[in-house]
Amino acid sequence: MKVLVVGGGGREHAICWKLAQSPRVTELYCAPGNGGIAQVATCVPVKATDVDGMVAWARENAMDFVMVAPDDPLALGMVDALEAAGIPAFGPRANAAIIEASKAFSKELMKKYHIPTAQYETFTDLDKALSYIQAQGAPIVVKADGLALGKGVVVASTVEEAETAVREMMEDKKFGESGSTVVIEECMVGPEVTVLAFCDGEHLVPMLSSQDHKRAYDGNQGPNTGGMGAFCPSPKYTPEIADRCMRDIFLPTVAALKAEGRPFKGVIYFGLMLTKDGPRVVEYNARFGDPETQPILSMLDTDLMDIFQACVDGTLDKIDIKWKPGAACCLVLASGGYPVSSKSGYPISGLAEAEALGVTVFHAGTKAEDGKVLTAGGRVLGVTATAPSLEEAIGKAYAAAKPISFQDMHFRTDIGKV
Ligand code: AMP
Ligand code: GLY
Repeated sequence: MKVLVVGGGGREHAICWKLAQSPRVTELYCAPGNGGIAQVATCVPVKATDVDGMVAWARENAMDFVMVAPDDPLALGMVDALEAAGIPAFGPRANAAIIEASKAFSKELMKKYHIPTAQYETFTDLDKALSYIQAQGAPIVVKADGLALGKGVVVASTVEEAETAVREMMEDKKFGESGSTVVIEECMVGPEVTVLAFCDGEHLVPMLSSQDHKRAYDGNQGPNTGGMGAFCPSPKYTPEIADRCMRDIFLPTVAALKAEGRPFKGVIYFGLMLTKDGPRVVEYNARFGDPETQPILSMLDTDLMDIFQACVDGTLDKIDIKWKPGAACCLVLASGGYPVSSKSGYPISGLAEAEALGVTVFHAGTKAEDGKVLTAGGRVLGVTATAPSLEEAIGKAYAAAKPISFQDMHFRTDIGKV
């Protein structure tokens, strides 16, 4: 099969790395890819958000299957466009990807189908939003409705902070049109766990649970990032909690989307908070998480192409998805200044020495030039280790990161520990 993966970060490197192991995948392409992906797939210079360009390339090059990984092309309807061109594609159509693209939509869906989540109200009027905040008091959470690169959420500890956030979103248009509708919700408390699940429109199979580390600095301090590291499985996600999530959250979500005429095929990302009243949904994403995918796919013991095909064919109930025993940890090595600002183009050394220690180094933001690998983004690498226990996986990832260096390299020293 000739397979194309859309995207170019650490998550797409992990997906390509796993697909490259499938005997069914004879030719693997990635658009746009990156310096590390180039080792396992042929990189194609088409932007991930260029729907027409991607469909044209896939058609001209006779792709048998396309996997769309990032949120924006999914929201733009890339899967719909590929299907219309007769090319089988993995990922939700735009009408189902909306569970990530619109928080107002996903909150409404959860309310209608009694899926546990934070109490909330949706506003398009600034004054009404401000009076609601006054009435509710703090802590309170303010969210821009649309996609905002994970930055459109403010967990405000004071009323003033919440008011400022609403003004920035609605008045100053800090997130453009994404912020003209805001969702204001109750602040939930508890550990956060992520569960990704394969879906075929009707059936759902959860992957290993995971946890990521969103803040830039140790001790969960500093600004939110795309994720500074992740591990799986989460020790907090007990079999009892898993059963409850399946019954109260996962199956009802898939059934709700189907009932609404928006069957979901692809990966649903359940961001969960384990509150004292039980697990509740923090957010849905319509795709694999980054960096959660790196440790999770490192633990997968089934052909990923078979799973993708089953999701598209609606036969997920017929496939046995297996996981390796033990645990995995991904440590992100970022550029200095990330996530606020960072410089690129620095040479990276020590990659071969790291991999000789038995880890996989997934590339998030790199480019290959004249036989050298250069930094090309905020998050640069994801050093990913598997081991019989989480402790050992963490130790192995940190040990393997030691030989790697590039100018102003920055990483957290407490991944998996807080
Ligand atoms: P989101 O983009 O919706 O995942 O939000 C980003 C982060 O904000 C989450 O990972 C949580 O840590 C936090 N958050 C979002 N919604 C809530 C909530 N209702 N209560 C407490 N924390 C929240
Ligand atoms: N790691 C969080 C996300 O992918 O949204």
